[in-house]
Amino acid sequence: MNAPVHPDRAELTQRLVTELGAAFHLRASYAPDHPQVTGSLARVLATQGAWCAHEGVAEVSLILVEGHLLVDRQAIPEDASWSRGLLRAFQRLGIRGLTLVVGLDEAELGRFLDGCHGAAGPTSSRHLLVGQAGFAATESPEVAGTGGQGPASPAASPSPEQLAGARSELRAAGAGTTTRIDRLRSLIAELARSAGPAALDALRLSASRVDDREFLHGLAVAITTLRLGRALGLQGSPLEDLALGGFLHDVGHLEESGAEKDAVRRRARHPVRGAERLAGLEGIPDLAVLVALEHHLRFDGAPSYPSTVGPGKPAAAARVVAVADTWETLLGRGETGPAESLAVLRARAGTFLDPALVELFAEIVAPREPRDGV
Ligand SMILES: [Fe+2]
Ligand SMILES: [Fe+2]
Repeated sequence: MNAPVHPDRAELTQRLVTELGAAFHLRASYAPDHPQVTGSLARVLATQGAWCAHEGVAEVSLILVEGHLLVDRQAIPEDASWSRGLLRAFQRLGIRGLTLVVGLDEAELGRFLDGCHGAAGPTSSRHLLVGQAGFAATESPEVAGTGGQGPASPAASPSPEQLAGARSELRAAGAGTTTRIDRLRSLIAELARSAGPAALDALRLSASRVDDREFLHGLAVAITTLRLGRALGLQGSPLEDLALGGFLHDVGHLEESGAEKDAVRRRARHPVRGAERLAGLEGIPDLAVLVALEHHLRFDGAPSYPSTVGPGKPAAAARVVAVADTWETLLGRGETGPAESLAVLRARAGTFLDPALVELFAEIVAPREPRDGV
């Protein structure tokens, strides 16, 4: 009897990269329903499943950093000829990173590849997140053109009335009273239209005249979440739901009078308290409740709070907001500048924070490393 062969991580990684590269290539050459294409999709999914099972994780990320391919934080050897097909596909399509989540099926993967070879371009979906190059340096064209503001409008910034409305709604959400999620959503939608980092920074400056720490922190985290979400390829209502989660993530800190006085216990309870408050609000997206509950869970699954959640890792949305929250908390204290804050994020990558998201975020906040001739 032959002993079963158990491929190790390196072998599974090679298979995954090879099969994914082949899938891009085959879809470029054949119709979507051609057996070469469907067979290739099945092999990608089988390999993804084997990789995730071997590592005990729910997803695998492949990201491009300065021309090098990293699979779940580990670089592919530079002389690996088997990675060239995928590298070429990523570069040709402007793909910066790809996360394949368990649950991805042939139909969803097929739609992604169809988009890559059609007018839509690479597009994220429920089990497949795409990060695209160029976001940080340029306005997102599909967003810059929305909103009926006219072609010359540089940014559809929220009005003072919208900001004031959002402040009172944040307080109402914290108190668990009836709140108008539609008013918060309209603020987030306006923020989402302000695609460029410069426009968002200008908004941050104007809002900073308001003396309301919780509101400013929520707004700053929402803005940074939008930037990171957009870099992941999200748009439309999934992006707005995520940013709303960022805006409301610390709602559990807004205490009623007479509530928990012990600061340590209050801090430990704020995720559960926030999730409870939000869950009771009509029209709140489930994702915002999830973000409130899990935004302090650690990426590596080590004990954190709330201790009642787990075992396991935080959901993808909570991991995105955790990066934005850490960044804005560090900057908001005024003790660390962007470079030091980024160093802190990198020091926490792999333990507290998702390393792939930290690297993607680094591309956003420090988009232009000095290059020859540029
Ligand atoms: Fe928090
Ligand atoms: Fe926070």
